[in-house]
Amino acid sequence: MTVPASRKNPDRIIVGITGATGIIYAVRALDVLRSLGIETHLIVTKPAELTLAYETDMTKRELTDRADHVWPINDVGAPLSSGSFLTRGMLIAPASMRCVGEIANGISASLLPRAADVTLKERRTLVLMVREEPLNLIHLRNMVTVTEAGGTILPPVPAFYSRPKTIDDIVDQTVGRALDQFGIHVDMFPRWDDALRHNVARGKDAEVAEALKDE
Ligand SMILES: Cc1cc2nc3c(=O)[nH]c(=O)nc-3n(C[C@H](O)[C@H](O)[C@H](O)COP(=O)(O)O)c2cc1C
Repeated sequence: MTVPASRKNPDRIIVGITGATGIIYAVRALDVLRSLGIETHLIVTKPAELTLAYETDMTKRELTDRADHVWPINDVGAPLSSGSFLTRGMLIAPASMRCVGEIANGISASLLPRAADVTLKERRTLVLMVREEPLNLIHLRNMVTVTEAGGTILPPVPAFYSRPKTIDDIVDQTVGRALDQFGIHVDMFPRWDDALRHNVARGKDAEVAEALKDE
């Protein structure tokens, strides 16, 4: 029996945007993925349209034009609803506590949590850029459940050792770390190495040496 030649695995990522604050993270991720030639499939929740209006001067069209394919939130029959549709995985940026709760409890009532559910069942990379503060026990338990199911909780927490100067610096660091999870390694933020370590010390090597001494 002859088997049809397999097609090259398509290089595509699902990007979900929910109504937590920080839609700028998704905008940057979509732009970077496009610049890398990685096909994006976008799902935007209704509350995310609200944060888009509050947090940016962008129209919905200007947001969705950044993706290669855009799927309606209620289209649970979209290709992303099936594990047979091949993807590298899914990035949800930002991820609301509502969507974390839906994913943790297997509630696939709309396309975004369904695509996340599929990503987990296919053992693909699922990254949730969760955003809330402070966190209650329900949030924390849901994040543990998603982690136990194979997802990655990656809150947009800035690193200050690289001395970010702009909001873009802070956003790029988190987006770059999120893309690392998919095996996409982009030099869009300073990685901690000897050169950076020396650079940020800015002549304070004596203080650093002192801090490294045993107590
Ligand atoms: C300006 C604004 C900021 C919000 N920030 C957060 C947030 O940081 N985290 C969160 O979980 N929900 C936040 N919310 C509430 C969510 O939008 C709301 O819970 C919504 O139902 C989430 O639904 P979705 O997951 O379908 O987008 C915010 C809402 C608004 C309008």
